[in-house]
Amino acid sequence: MNQPVIEINNLNFTYERTKVLENINLTVEPGSFLGLVGPNGSGKTTLLKCLLGLLKPQQGEIKLFGQQIHKFKNWHEIGFVSQKANSFNTGFPASVFEVVSSGLTSKLGLFKLMSKNDRQKVLEAIEAVGLKEFTRRNIGELSGGQQQRTFIARAIVSEPKLLILDEPTVGVDAKTVQNFYEMLMKLNRQLGITLILVTHDVGTITDKVTHVACINKHLHFHGNSQEFESLKEDEMSEFYGHSLHVLTHSH
Ligand SMILES: Nc1ncnc2c1ncn2[C@@H]1O[C@H](COP(=O)(O)OP(=O)(O)O)[C@@H](O)[C@H]1O
Ligand SMILES: [Mg+2]
Repeated sequence: MNQPVIEINNLNFTYERTKVLENINLTVEPGSFLGLVGPNGSGKTTLLKCLLGLLKPQQGEIKLFGQQIHKFKNWHEIGFVSQKANSFNTGFPASVFEVVSSGLTSKLGLFKLMSKNDRQKVLEAIEAVGLKEFTRRNIGELSGGQQQRTFIARAIVSEPKLLILDEPTVGVDAKTVQNFYEMLMKLNRQLGITLILVTHDVGTITDKVTHVACINKHLHFHGNSQEFESLKEDEMSEFYGHSLHVLTHSH
């Protein structure tokens, strides 16, 4: 049975008086790599917080792996890397290996020794994000992009079925961003992890993702990447209220 990883029906979310999400309907199929795009303040993080059960929408339904969110218990199946991971205290004295291992502690218990099998999992996660030669490096001595990869390795070490990334490449230079997206593509294709990548940088992801969803309070578009690419620039501008050029180059 190939049920959707996520099913959102008629979701509405309001902070105090400001309506941030209106009538969102979105389905994410297993194995897909969804780029969730929209300008700053368009409700992307709010939508993720609803999906993670951190915010309760006033209206609508969310199902995770076929189950109503309020009954869902398998949170270990969902990995999350927040926007804030890259402002992590880099003076913290921990190696890549140690940070990634901490992704297992909920399962391990804090003071239990790691089994050989767990060590192997940690090494595989580090290799999957392309940091093998930095395994013993202190994370304070890594670039922003490498630190972000470390947090992704920590999120995937517990073998989630779904990985959600909220603007992981803010402050990372263009070339590194491309490598970073290639790495995500591999996680999606080779490990079969369903991915949701939130970004306001719409221009650079279309050849990496399988699907795109554009939100700006409403869901303006949802389709596969070919359908997205065939959208005209003026249609895009209409969604965002300003030109695509501004959208893809502003921070
Ligand atoms: N805790 C909050 N209380 C009130 N308004 C908020 C809160 N968090 C976000 N907002 C507002 O909701 C809107 C959407 O925010 P957000 O989901 O963070 O957008 P994005 O992630 O797309 O940049 C913005 O206008 C923002 O100012
Ligand atoms: Mg955000």
